[in-house]
Amino acid sequence: MKTTTRSIRALKGVRPIVCLTAYDAITARLASEGGADLILVGDSVGNAVLGMPDTVGVTLDMMLHHTAAVVRAKPDPVVIGDLPFALAHDSFSKVLGYCRRFLQEAGAQGVKIEGGTRLAPTIAKLVDAGIPVMGHVGMLPQRVHTTGYRRRGLTAEDQAMVLQDARAIEAAGAFAMVLECVDEKLVSAITSQVKIPTIGIGSGQNCDGQILVIHDLLGFTANPPPFAHPEANLHRSAVTALQRWAKKVRTPKTSR
Ligand code: KIV
Repeated sequence: MKTTTRSIRALKGVRPIVCLTAYDAITARLASEGGADLILVGDSVGNAVLGMPDTVGVTLDMMLHHTAAVVRAKPDPVVIGDLPFALAHDSFSKVLGYCRRFLQEAGAQGVKIEGGTRLAPTIAKLVDAGIPVMGHVGMLPQRVHTTGYRRRGLTAEDQAMVLQDARAIEAAGAFAMVLECVDEKLVSAITSQVKIPTIGIGSGQNCDGQILVIHDLLGFTANPPPFAHPEANLHRSAVTALQRWAKKVRTPKTSR
């Protein structure tokens, strides 16, 4: 059954929420048949698929292209598109225009926006305009060139900042929020204090749900992050299958 941003929000306190990234029709079908509740077309498409070192080079046009491919697979999980690097800091009319393109051109049902307190007023206006928004606080990969990839909530001062971000995103009307690489104790505090689902990645088990990059989970990536715990090694299976076929092609017909 098709999920919605409202049904995802209603799952808080009912059961853990399963989220996966997908970037094309094939991974969308896998995520849907694999039982995901929500598909995020993440800007992790940059690292996972496009051979980029990080997500900074991912553009709006790339995101719309991949989001539309996911939507064309007609997956059951609600599809959320990721607003790429720095666009959320444009003027509100431009941000509204970008988000409108995700819903109208690519067919997504909502957008995800990386950032906390500073972006809360923008998120509140987007929600007011009818755009469902998923927040993303904690480690923000789009800020790799300013903060690096650092775990969050390790000092009392940083804990206060992340908690403030989470509260601001909830107050702005987001339907859920990603907590990326946040200290587990802080995750428990945030999850019990906010009324919207917290979706963790590298943040332990105390969130309302989990999200992983599908390529990490399926074993397509060479160096998955330590928290990913791949459930398959599809890279090895694919290489074995391809080598088997290459051998067949190279074997003279007479000796087959
Ligand atoms: O871009 C992405 O895939 C993400 C998730 C990993 C949360 O932001």
